[in-house]
Amino acid sequence: MDPCIITIVNSPSTQTRSARLKPPGPRRIPLIGYLREFRRDPPKFLSNLARNHGDLVHFMLGPQDIYLLNHPDYIRDVLVTNNRNFVKSRGLELAKRFLGESLLTSEGEFHRRQRRLAQPAFHRQRINAYADTMTLYASRTRQRWNDGQTVDIWREMMQLTLAIVGKTLFDADVEGEAQEIGKALTDVMQLFKRITNPFAGLLDKLPLPGNIRWLRAKQMLDSTIYRIINERRASRVDRGDLLSMLLLAQDEEGDGGSMTDEQLRNEAMTLFVAGHETTANALTWTWYLLSQHPEIEAKLHEEIDRELNGSLPTASDVARLRYTEMVFAESMRLYPPAWTMGRRVLADYPVGNYVVPAGAIVLMSQWVMHHDARFFPDPLRFDPDRWTIEARESRPKFSYFPFGGGPRVCIGEQFAWMEGALLIATIAQRWKMRLASGQRVEPRAIITLRPRDGMRMILGKRIEPLDRQESALNTSRVNESPLLLGQS
Ligand code: HEM
Repeated sequence: MDPCIITIVNSPSTQTRSARLKPPGPRRIPLIGYLREFRRDPPKFLSNLARNHGDLVHFMLGPQDIYLLNHPDYIRDVLVTNNRNFVKSRGLELAKRFLGESLLTSEGEFHRRQRRLAQPAFHRQRINAYADTMTLYASRTRQRWNDGQTVDIWREMMQLTLAIVGKTLFDADVEGEAQEIGKALTDVMQLFKRITNPFAGLLDKLPLPGNIRWLRAKQMLDSTIYRIINERRASRVDRGDLLSMLLLAQDEEGDGGSMTDEQLRNEAMTLFVAGHETTANALTWTWYLLSQHPEIEAKLHEEIDRELNGSLPTASDVARLRYTEMVFAESMRLYPPAWTMGRRVLADYPVGNYVVPAGAIVLMSQWVMHHDARFFPDPLRFDPDRWTIEARESRPKFSYFPFGGGPRVCIGEQFAWMEGALLIATIAQRWKMRLASGQRVEPRAIITLRPRDGMRMILGKRIEPLDRQESALNTSRVNESPLLLGQS
């Protein structure tokens, strides 16, 4: 435990003094606090606060007290050591209106039950079984492309990762519908722009075009998901995927009950939302960074060519694709797909020489920590060599936390690492990308960090097509996939 915490807990006089004192921060602005600055460019605003005021910063967003934690130990203590003193904050309350009670949005016993039920779908053997689908879908994408073609690689990655989540977790073919579903999800995400708006409650009730679009998008997504659930209930087949697991699951450690259709809908929707955009963003930033660093790109190609020798990658190749993984890790350092996390404090909470009062929000920002020169010297430089085992072990754990930590750590973390490595390897085996002229590159931070204007890139073919292997894969892998074997 942090020695400062012991001092405070043991010494009432220190506690009184510290509880009254606020940590350093920008001077107070009445009423709106720093809402305007925060909304203009949230990552930059938080980085400036950390640079100017240190490891613990206090500021106001409207009437809300916010404490920004900028030290890996403080972040570990909130996410891991003292996690029971925190609940998720306003962003998740907003998400609940769309996702209902689910893994991502719920708290306490309900959350623990849902996590127990869903966890088996994310065990290592299951993830390995999903690998063939990941490679197959990526190979279909790369087959569709033409030399010299300009594509919005962000849209391509969104479609690809959405189709992969649909197939692996629900055995549903949403590849054809991916565009429509993607658009509906984007409309839904727009609502999160209200996250920092103190009048959000009022705005939500007005017949604004945004609200109407939101309702329509929600109806479209609901009907897709209920269709998948109904088909599965009707077929009564255990396909060995997540949906079957959730349908059949009995909570043996808990009440022994199973899930209603509404709970299933909430979990399915959550996994569609949480399971594709983050990975698509991470991959998009990876393609962009590679296009700007040909020497790193060449090293990546060298590894892929050497280790795969022209074959498509499988789960068992991933352990040898070390540099590929390092590229992906470094890309998520520079552009963390989940760029900040918030928690509401339940009981007064000591941090360093201060006490964060109950009701306040603590913010922990991956963006800020991942750009901290104390842990990542020359922090803006794209350098995958920061991810050798020795370099990684020399840093405190929570200097890098793209997937969060503690009991609420991303359930899809292993899924995402596997997907990242396989998609990079499959696509980079055949294609290079260069930024299209006039493409502005700017991150936009709402819940995730996506490119503000998409990412138009020009495709350049690398090596001779591997059509023979691909057509073999298309016919044999589909039948061999453990996921799909479950159908017969
Ligand atoms: C690069 C990809 C991904 C990133 C960066 C990412 C990041 C995160 C982070 C930071 C959290 C914790 C949020 C918090 O504690 O406030 C989280 C939670 C979660 N993620 Fe991911 N995620 C990724 C991919 C996935 C995938 C592929 C899935 C599912 C297939 C997924 C499903 C979830 C779920 C269900 C939760 C809530 C877990 C819980 O609270 O028990 N994520 N993710």
